[in-house]
Amino acid sequence: MIGAVRYVLRRGFELIERPFDRLFGPALNPLAQLGALGFFFFWIVAVSGIYLFIFFDTGIERAYESVENISHYHWFHAGVMRSLHRYASDLMIVMVAAHLLRQFAYDQYRGVRWFSWLTGLPMIWMLYAAGVTGYWLVWDRLAQYVALTSSELLDRLPIFGEPIARNFIATGTLTSRFFSLMVFMHIAVPLILLFIMWVHILRISRPKINPPRALAVMSLIAMVGVALWNPALSQGHVDLAKAPAGVGLDWFFLPIFPLTDIWGRGGVWLFLAAFSLIIGVMPWLPPFRRASAAAVDLEHCNGCARCAEDCPYEAIRIVNRTDNLPFLTQAQVNSSLCTSCGICVGSCPSSTPFRRTEELKTGIDLPDFPLKELRARTVEVGKALEGPARVMVFACEHGGGRKLKGAVQMPCVAMAPPSLFDYVLSQDLADGVVIVGCAESACYARLGVEWTKQRIAGARDPYLRARVPRERIATVWASALATGKVTAEIAAFKTKIAALPRKKLRSPAPPTAVQPGDGQPVPAESAP
Ligand code: HEM
Ligand code: SF4
Ligand code: SF4
Repeated sequence: MIGAVRYVLRRGFELIERPFDRLFGPALNPLAQLGALGFFFFWIVAVSGIYLFIFFDTGIERAYESVENISHYHWFHAGVMRSLHRYASDLMIVMVAAHLLRQFAYDQYRGVRWFSWLTGLPMIWMLYAAGVTGYWLVWDRLAQYVALTSSELLDRLPIFGEPIARNFIATGTLTSRFFSLMVFMHIAVPLILLFIMWVHILRISRPKINPPRALAVMSLIAMVGVALWNPALSQGHVDLAKAPAGVGLDWFFLPIFPLTDIWGRGGVWLFLAAFSLIIGVMPWLPPFRRASAAAVDLEHCNGCARCAEDCPYEAIRIVNRTDNLPFLTQAQVNSSLCTSCGICVGSCPSSTPFRRTEELKTGIDLPDFPLKELRARTVEVGKALEGPARVMVFACEHGGGRKLKGAVQMPCVAMAPPSLFDYVLSQDLADGVVIVGCAESACYARLGVEWTKQRIAGARDPYLRARVPRERIATVWASALATGKVTAEIAAFKTKIAALPRKKLRSPAPPTAVQPGDGQPVPAESAP
């Protein structure tokens, strides 16, 4: 059931996302930048909020007039800021909804990722609390409606001694102190939200918290445009003697309010509790899949820190050496943070398949699918290849090649060290190599596509050696649902390979009995 919902959602996302990829390029695809856009909108809300505070009167008697002044007298600066404040807040809601659904659709919320998912829940609550208290401050008819309905909702809970909704029914009973409390909350809640936003990304290496400049500028221009075209305005002064009927709602922040008329206050709380509960337990719903965490083999680790640099989940720390090998540091894996993506295996200088020790070992490895198995599978697939264009496919289990028969599958293509591609060609296991990973804007392991591209381009350790003919290496970045694209690109690559002169690479001299690199970390591969 959950799988079916996820599939439909993913199809939906891809339908929108792939045209974006083609139009703007994967880097500017807004759907790949939702978290970063969330931060960006937050900063716009914060800056515009501080600016508005210069003109806002926090007393209940003058609040409405001061906001009217902002919109009409100072419209060209403070008025624009007011609109930016509102529209950026609305966009945060849109971003959070899309971000939550996308993490779910791409299955990036279970297992070790539970932490980011779960910390997302209080952020939703804080975001709504900030929005609702913000609507109070305008002290117009909408504020009256919001104040009345939210107080009625709160009255349903056993928090306050006497019903606070009464404050809005009888004329003039809302105290200035209560209004000041709302002003305080409207400042305090976003600060708490910011703190949780920081916690939210604590377990993620290199989190994207700033969208690309072009995307940020485009979003800002669009928001200013909307602010000028349709400025945020108030809806008439509060009249506590009359019930606030017929007010225009902000459907991003206030969709729950009209529901009180349909479901009743208890029904709304039940709905909110059920929503929170479902979100809260989702990372632990079956099917469970928990591969073993990466493990360090100190005999093959020199503490170079490349694995820690490349790990997408802050799971590796470089600590002081605990054995007698002549290195200062060593890698240490925190298994509760490791998603078993294998990227660290691909980045370790000891992960070279050319090593001829009895058993291929490396500095850091996946117990469930170790490097020796990856090499053995590569050799097995290579032996089965035939024809004029023998192409070896390395595929990520989460991308468009995950169902390809005869491919070497792995948790992330960045698990394969570049020397493995060199090995395939130099040992004449194939005439060409295709690496099939996730779509560039949706790498399941976050950084696998990026690191693979950089390693092949010679921009990141470990490099693909210069001697490896680049025309014999191809990459296909495609989502799990874009299998057609993968088969088409592999077929095109085969045709290209068939047209190339058949050329066997010279393999490196076989290692002698005792190798300096055996049992000890080998030196880094040479840069091109
Ligand atoms: C103010 C709201 C939010 C902001 C600003 C925000 C921001 C971010 C950022 C910047 C990242 C890192 C993205 C990356 O570099 O790959 C992230 C990851 C994540 N977020 Fe949020 N987020 C918000 C709300 C939520 C909510 C409501 C949920 C779900 C309940 C959620 C679930 C996740 C998950 C599961 C990840 C981890 C992705 C992974 O492991 O690959 N976030 N978020
Ligand atoms: S397997 Fe992935 S998440 Fe685990 S330590 Fe290695 S790079 Fe980090
Ligand atoms: S030698 Fe390998 S396991 Fe050790 S720190 Fe370097 S990359 Fe990590």
